[in-house]
Amino acid sequence: YPIFAQQGYDYPREANGRIVCANCHLAQKPVDIEMPQAVFPDTVFEANIHIPYDQSLKQVLGNGKKGGLNVGAVLILPEGFEIAPKDRIPEEISTKVGKLFFQPYAADKKNIIVVGPLPGKKYSDMVFPVLSPKDPKNFLKFPVYLGGNRGRGQVYPSGEKSNNTVYTSPAKGAITAIDTDPEGKSVISIFDKDADKTVNTTIPAGPTLLVKVGDTLAADQPLTNNPNVGGFGQADTEIVLQNPLRVIGLIVFLFTICVAQIFLVLKKKQFEKVQLADMNF
Ligand code: HEM
Repeated sequence: YPIFAQQGYDYPREANGRIVCANCHLAQKPVDIEMPQAVFPDTVFEANIHIPYDQSLKQVLGNGKKGGLNVGAVLILPEGFEIAPKDRIPEEISTKVGKLFFQPYAADKKNIIVVGPLPGKKYSDMVFPVLSPKDPKNFLKFPVYLGGNRGRGQVYPSGEKSNNTVYTSPAKGAITAIDTDPEGKSVISIFDKDADKTVNTTIPAGPTLLVKVGDTLAADQPLTNNPNVGGFGQADTEIVLQNPLRVIGLIVFLFTICVAQIFLVLKKKQFEKVQLADMNF
């Protein structure tokens, strides 16, 4: 959940570019972001976020049963950009946003926005209404980073595995017993002949067992399948914060060039007339 990232990390993007959700959401799946190429200061615009996945998929839930996937995202905007206040959002954008609830990553990080968990069937495509800064320090091209996730993570903040991941053998040896309780939780006993001891390992309801009593295991051999059908992805893009004076300057410049070119053509026509007159002479 985004809250796990907010609690565990001051800043959601690591120096190597990885967004911290990836530390617990181990599978990789694509995400996409679309934004305008350039915006003026103090303007509301859309950031379109896509977290695509096969909507017919079911995942393992916390209780071992199967259910739909949820989605969530973190959007790292340039300093000074933030979610537009309600009264600034034009109706056209507001209908596309719907009932999404945006949260700043932290009180002093309004330019970093998190959403989710939300039902994936409805929110696999989201629109973020973004407001550009009013008095920017400089007009530059800025990077924008998106992290988007569908499906449950593999590790809890405590470091414990969730039941949405693969379980491996803690020891080598032969399986002497597998006790499965009615909820689906299994305890596997592995007898290591060399060390002359039995190691027990517990597998929660969710992943499917791939081993049976009597099997000989190597250490770290997978005991279950990997039930995870979700995944996390990152995308980045760029946005130019454009100075209106620059655009006006460009228009004035192009206009003067246009006029100058017309005068050159007129001058040429005039000179052609002189040439014609010379010939008749
Ligand atoms: C669940 C998103 C960071 C561990 C989820 C879900 C979403 C999500 C949408 C619900 C999935 C579902 O129910 O189908 C995110 C995003 C993150 C982030 C966008 C970054 C901003 C983390 C971090 C950790 C983590 C840092 C680990 C410390 C988990 C776990 C679950 C989960 C274990 C399953 C919880 C349960 O069902 O018991 N996350 N997550 N997530 N997330 Fe994250």
